[in-house]
Amino acid sequence: MSHIDRVGGEDLVIDSVNFSYGGKLSIFLNLNLNVKPGEFLSIIGPSGCGKTTLLNLLSGFYQPEQGSVRLRGQPIAPEDTHLGYVFQQPTLFPWLSAIENVEFGLRMIGIPSDARRERALKYFHLVGLKGFEDFLVLRLSGGMQQRVSLARSLAMEPTLLLMDEPFGALDAITRETMNDELLRIWDELGQTVLFITHDIDEAVYLSDRIVVCGRPPHGIYKIMENELPRPRSGPNTRTKDLFWQYKKQLIEDIAVVTAQSPQSEEEMRELRLAQHAEVLE
Ligand SMILES: Nc1ncnc2c1ncn2[C@@H]1O[C@H](COP(=O)(O)OP(=O)(O)OP(=O)(O)O)[C@@H](O)[C@H]1O
Ligand SMILES: [Mg+2]
Repeated sequence: MSHIDRVGGEDLVIDSVNFSYGGKLSIFLNLNLNVKPGEFLSIIGPSGCGKTTLLNLLSGFYQPEQGSVRLRGQPIAPEDTHLGYVFQQPTLFPWLSAIENVEFGLRMIGIPSDARRERALKYFHLVGLKGFEDFLVLRLSGGMQQRVSLARSLAMEPTLLLMDEPFGALDAITRETMNDELLRIWDELGQTVLFITHDIDEAVYLSDRIVVCGRPPHGIYKIMENELPRPRSGPNTRTKDLFWQYKKQLIEDIAVVTAQSPQSEEEMRELRLAQHAEVLE
């Protein structure tokens, strides 16, 4: 049985979404995407194509100008605990210990202290940090801090995990280890994952499907089904012909979207004005 089949519930649905940052330039025009429950979906595309904007729309942090975003049939709000985030930088509280960072969100939603510690420890151990509970986060390596960050999100038991280049700041070896850890955890917990990355290998290694974004307002250029068998494991997966075939295809696709018509002078002016207005707000 596939990972997707064993998870119930409805899809995440992005339906005819239009979005701009207040100016004339559309970041998305009529964007449509359905994500299956328990699916691992990666999003890849050139810098500035709107990947982070898309996650902010999914998190309810921004609202679409038209169209809708629904998780299990409901609109999404930023305080929705069905959502978890992991960002490129760990964004932890340096004055708290590693385990206290994991407990922080649980405290916010009013979970009593004993239950809080128990749940935090469960996820802390799941990400492979047993023994480091009382360390201040500044005394942990970058990869370990990112694990704390992942544990903090997982402890909220989200059904949808939004990850914005979570391993982008890590060296290649740590990144590969984190990829394996993430797959192991995903296999155990079965959440839906939306994973943004610049790294083609990472997208192919992890995902069920890969979305290639075009430059605004081109939206989604392509959605690639990834039929590499699971469980995926290091060299075994990475040396398969299919892995290389997907990789080659994505290199070609990204070359196409990177060459898509750059924004006109007028559009760039609009964009700068919109950004300026945002800073002043
Ligand atoms: N707060 C903002 N105000 C105005 N424009 C913005 C804002 N945030 C992003 N943009 C613009 O929207 C477009 C998409 O930005 P976004 O951050 O979503 O891109 P991205 O695909 O995540 O890029 P990267 O790969 O570099 O992280 C860019 O042209 C960017 O300049
Ligand atoms: Mg981004």
